[in-house]
Amino acid sequence: MSKHENGVPENHQPWPEFKLPELLSSDTLRDLHAAIESDWDLLRRSACQTAAGRALWRQVIRDPLAELFAGETYLKNIYEKIKKDKLNNAKEISGVILAVRTLWFDSKLEAALSSVDGGGSQVVLLGAGMDARSYRLSCLKESSVFEVDFPEVLQAKATILEAAANSSEEHHHPIMTAKSLTRVAADLAEDDWLEKLQTSGFEPKKSTVWILEGILYYLSHAHAAEVLNIIAEKCNLTKTVLLADFMNKQATTLSSSTFRFYCDWPDQLLPSIGFADVTLSQIGDPDAHFGLLQDPMNLFNKLRNLPRTVQIHPDDGTPCGRLYLLQASGSPNQTAS
Ligand SMILES: C[S@@+](CC[C@H](N)C(=O)[O-])C[C@H]1O[C@@H](n2cnc3c(N)ncnc32)[C@H](O)[C@@H]1O
Repeated sequence: MSKHENGVPENHQPWPEFKLPELLSSDTLRDLHAAIESDWDLLRRSACQTAAGRALWRQVIRDPLAELFAGETYLKNIYEKIKKDKLNNAKEISGVILAVRTLWFDSKLEAALSSVDGGGSQVVLLGAGMDARSYRLSCLKESSVFEVDFPEVLQAKATILEAAANSSEEHHHPIMTAKSLTRVAADLAEDDWLEKLQTSGFEPKKSTVWILEGILYYLSHAHAAEVLNIIAEKCNLTKTVLLADFMNKQATTLSSSTFRFYCDWPDQLLPSIGFADVTLSQIGDPDAHFGLLQDPMNLFNKLRNLPRTVQIHPDDGTPCGRLYLLQASGSPNQTAS
């Protein structure tokens, strides 16, 4: 079967085959993941959970580092869920939302880079977690990439990459595909993260693609607004592209102790703070599908067919939790519509 760069089968099959990835036998990694499980809070551990999702969906996401970043426990958790889904003939398989989200960000990033500065833009990942785009996307070859996350997350990531580089298993050796990669330890809830980014080499006047994948809803409303405003202000200085996912209010009720910021109308919020071109996609839309959501009766397709104002699903009384994928851009010679 032929595949494009992201590994998405061109003549797609209904469901990929799932296998539990083999792990690197390394004491360093085992000890590190044990410490992550016992010492990290939910916020930080979400970095490994997300990597586990990508590792299990490797038929469509080529990310050979994902299983090392995830660790055994998270891999097994999601593998068991997927096995159950298959047994129950579920309409949605666990992790599909994550797979679609990752592929959407990959494809929009690639398109944004090819439309801006011949690929030579800066790329900033806020809440980068265990994202491995700098090792898996060739569209970053002219880009300076900055990853921002908590210091302990970035330190663990560096340790895992070092263990992978020193391993005898060649397919795990990390090979950088970005022009450069700089890790910036910062808390997005503090007011010095932009300063730290700049001290690390980020150039405010250079065109930039900002990736906010799986991060905004972990922030308070005030901090999320501040982060979005800071990025919007950059539109006055240079060509700026924002790629971000937003939960609506109903989605945050799934875990109200974890999820904080929500926005039901991000396609209205972003123009109001200064972005000029804003497009919103929902999981299952033509550009957020990737052949993984064929069944018209799966949750995402059912939601897309309901008006966005509907809060409770009329069929079963469940909350209409939605994940919106937003692309927005702006530049000094463009004005917000
Ligand atoms: C769900 S993970 C997503 C990681 C990555 N973007 C991905 O898609 O694989 C959320 C990440 O945001 C980070 N994060 C959450 N709150 C943060 C904050 N206040 N400052 C910096 N990073 C934060 C967490 O440490 C975690 O790595």
